[in-house]
Amino acid sequence: MIFKGLEGVKVCKTSICYMDGSNGRLFYRGIPVETLADKSSFEEVAYLLWYGKLPTKSQLEEFKSKFSRNRDLSPESLEILFKLPKNLHYVDVLKIFLSIHGSVDNSEEDLQEKAIKIASVFPTILAYYYRYSNDLELIPPREDLPHIENFYHMVFGERDGYLRALESAFILLMEQDLNASTFTALVIGSTLSDLYSCIVGALGALRGPLHGGACEKVPPMLEEIGSEDKVEEYVQRCLAEKKKIMGFGHRIYKTYDPRAVYLRDTIQRLFPDNKLFKIAKRLEEYIVGNRIKNIYPNVDLYSSIFFEAMGFPRNMFTALFAMARVVGWTAHVIEYVSDNKLIRPESEYVGPIGVDYIPIERRDEDGKDSH
Ligand SMILES: CC(C)(COP(=O)(O)OP(=O)(O)OC[C@H]1O[C@@H](n2cnc3c(N)ncnc32)[C@H](O)[C@@H]1OP(=O)(O)O)[C@@H](O)C(=O)NCCC(=O)NCCS
Repeated sequence: MIFKGLEGVKVCKTSICYMDGSNGRLFYRGIPVETLADKSSFEEVAYLLWYGKLPTKSQLEEFKSKFSRNRDLSPESLEILFKLPKNLHYVDVLKIFLSIHGSVDNSEEDLQEKAIKIASVFPTILAYYYRYSNDLELIPPREDLPHIENFYHMVFGERDGYLRALESAFILLMEQDLNASTFTALVIGSTLSDLYSCIVGALGALRGPLHGGACEKVPPMLEEIGSEDKVEEYVQRCLAEKKKIMGFGHRIYKTYDPRAVYLRDTIQRLFPDNKLFKIAKRLEEYIVGNRIKNIYPNVDLYSSIFFEAMGFPRNMFTALFAMARVVGWTAHVIEYVSDNKLIRPESEYVGPIGVDYIPIERRDEDGKDSH
């Protein structure tokens, strides 16, 4: 039996996250994600995902201070930052710095401690590269600020924006069961490789346009559509050309993605006149209203518009996604390796067996014997 794309295959048990694809619900450790997005902080949700329970006040304080103490880049990394070209994609920048960090961090500390270190440094990498590549002075991390506020401050030099909404968006993006990037991290973790390698691999999977990379494809698509009255024509053209409409469809959600709903409502509240938002809403109305392919908007449709309205550059969107998802990636690796089994599926071989080796002098263009 072949399960193409591993669709419907369960490879392990987990208590981190539950996705109810038919009803469009998402729970982190049993708590509805909307509740966490409304009420919790990045650090508190990270604690929940890593340790399996909400922290007490003192546990959260201690945890937050651990988070903030691990934000700096080493002097060696900083030297490298200033040698980088200024037009790199932010996912590549993350891969570069995490590889450097991984190669110098050989400590034997437990995986949770490593996960904190890795998640803590993401904002610094992104903010430093943003400032460096835009010829702006770097703003060092501040230990007294919470994770998201510190990040925003390091990027824009400001501390008042729609920070609560930004924190909610990061909470929504933190975890999503065994999506392609989390599974990639598990595959790497199951070989008992190091946690940094798991994250570098996961970043590679995330950036693909069928996964997290879709968020960078959405704004150009909406610009190409151009106006609300061109939506129908665009959708029909995509269907005729068998082209995917970015920001729609999901392997698990067969109704509304709850994160898309939450972010759509956030944008409606904060940026109702955003031009791309108006086109996206019309696109949603048309596709859902006409039951086209039974697809619904996914999180990338609205996260991209939200991030852009917040002032982040487009080529940073997937990396912003990763800044949140790194918590889910590491939580799953930690859970999986605690009862590890090497992940090694099989394929069904359909090629020939016992084929003759033709010496190169006699080989034709098809690899056959020309004599
Ligand atoms: C996410 C995605 C890869 C899920 O794929 P999947 O579970 O493998 O489902 P499929 O791609 O096989 O889609 C099933 C059917 O719906 C159609 N479909 C799915 N998503 C579609 C989309 N965004 N636009 C147009 N058609 C779509 C497929 O063409 C297919 O139709 P068919 O049966 O007539 O061939 C897919 O929906 C997609 O490519 N979406 C666009 C990219 C995106 O937004 N990714 C972010 C996901 S969070």
